[in-house]
Amino acid sequence: MNARVLIVASEAIPLIKTGGLADVITALAKALRERGVDASVMIPAYPAAMQRAGKLQEIARLEDVPGGEARLLAGVVPDTDIPLVLFQNALFDRRTANPYVDDTGAEFADNAICFAALAHAAVRICAGKTPLPKPHVVHANDWHAGLIPALLRLQNLGDVGSLLTIHNLAFQGNYPMDLAAQLGIPESLRGAEGMEFWGNLSFLKAGILFADKVSTVSHSYAREILTPRFGHGMEGILNGRRKDLVAIPNGVDTTFWNPDADALIARTFNHEDMRGKSACKRDLQQMFGLPLDPFAPLMAIGSRITHQKMADVALSALPTVLEQHERAQVIVLGCGERAYEQGFVDLAERFKGRLAVHIGYDERRAHALHAGADMLLHGTRFEPFGLTPLYSMRYGTVPIASRVGGMIDSIVDAGATGAMAPAARGILFDGEQTEDMVRAIGRAFELYARPIDWHAMQREAMSADFSWNGPAESYANVYAGIAPNNARALFQPVPPETSTEAPLYMTA
Ligand code: ADP
Ligand code: GLC
Repeated sequence: MNARVLIVASEAIPLIKTGGLADVITALAKALRERGVDASVMIPAYPAAMQRAGKLQEIARLEDVPGGEARLLAGVVPDTDIPLVLFQNALFDRRTANPYVDDTGAEFADNAICFAALAHAAVRICAGKTPLPKPHVVHANDWHAGLIPALLRLQNLGDVGSLLTIHNLAFQGNYPMDLAAQLGIPESLRGAEGMEFWGNLSFLKAGILFADKVSTVSHSYAREILTPRFGHGMEGILNGRRKDLVAIPNGVDTTFWNPDADALIARTFNHEDMRGKSACKRDLQQMFGLPLDPFAPLMAIGSRITHQKMADVALSALPTVLEQHERAQVIVLGCGERAYEQGFVDLAERFKGRLAVHIGYDERRAHALHAGADMLLHGTRFEPFGLTPLYSMRYGTVPIASRVGGMIDSIVDAGATGAMAPAARGILFDGEQTEDMVRAIGRAFELYARPIDWHAMQREAMSADFSWNGPAESYANVYAGIAPNNARALFQPVPPETSTEAPLYMTA
């Protein structure tokens, strides 16, 4: 018998993706399966996901879940051997574009019902009430799956361990308390000892309180979320569970993000032969309609265009940067909050031939961007992990990033002035003011003008090990610690008594 884990989330590549969560879910499941853990993935049956999933088989009809009649469809995550479960109901059927917001950018009114339904369905699987095998552990991700641990507790399903992973504490799934009955939340869970959070029902709080273990995606973020600055009001609740809080940094899918074998870039390269990178730079300049100048410092932004990602700060910093450095070029790829998107479009108009923008979600352009740019500008007010700068580092694109969360752990700063710090991989900066970002970019441009230092930094960035092997092992250890006794040994080759009963992360 294999160890079985059901990973429940709202996104998984290549089926549906709005951010790093989707990358993590599929890459984690793949890495676990390579370790012999039978990991399956469950997400909602968004129409786009159904279409991309290919062959699906109805395996159960579910009555009595919020949102009306529903079905479970089984298949395989494309291009992998990961068993896939899609949860379908009439509400998810309507999500034809973005999974969370409508065409005007407003949150769908029925999000609470949709994701409560997903959780109820996952708990049916955990209860062994569907044809699917009962998992030993259910791994709930973010608020979308936050209700699962609470429902497991409520139904006394103690033979299934539960882990909640927080990928982003800013999204909490807080909804009016008067929805409780409709969401299948009994009185016993509606109080302050349960899901109540400032008068609302909070899906994330339910997960934090009732999961056997809670994890987050970097060591620094695990420390930060216990403080008011980064806790988004949940710091008290998290401190209450700090002995069960573990940090497992994400990895990178090194097959998909590989400069040496990437079918989506103009020419492949590696840290010993960087000639291909020059070709990629030219391709990127061409793609964005910028002059084909091999010596222009080319800085890229490639992320969600939001307040979290400091789009406002970038909008005010970039004009100064372009005025101070007359050869600099900037490209922007992203989508998100409308006013910021427009801000970048206006900048492109103002700095024609120097700054170019593509508003939209585009995988091919993202690869071209990481491969072709010299630097990646990644300002963020908080960053649980931050896959984007890791992708850029793999392609020798030096990140200029905020000193927060996962960035602290993955980027070694070059140092403020003079000789470059050993093993430097990028530039980290503090602060959220225009000048903070302008100064950091200035530092990067200074280093860019010192080719020996610059190439050393590129090499360092490209040779860092960000694979999923270590993280998958850490997850397997955590699963082993929360699985029912008779299944613990299945999760790992290591005897359970030497496995991590103690949290991987704990502050003094
Ligand atoms: P977050 O999940 O907070 O958005 P991450 O950096 O961890 O941040 O992950 C973002 C993921 O989304 C990366 O895979 C990145 O390449 C991708 N991404 C973001 N915006 C776009 C876009 N406009 N086009 C293509 N990929 C994008
Ligand atoms: C979230 C975070 C990001 C992280 C990703 C995957 O979207 O904002 O920092 O990399 O989840 O864990």
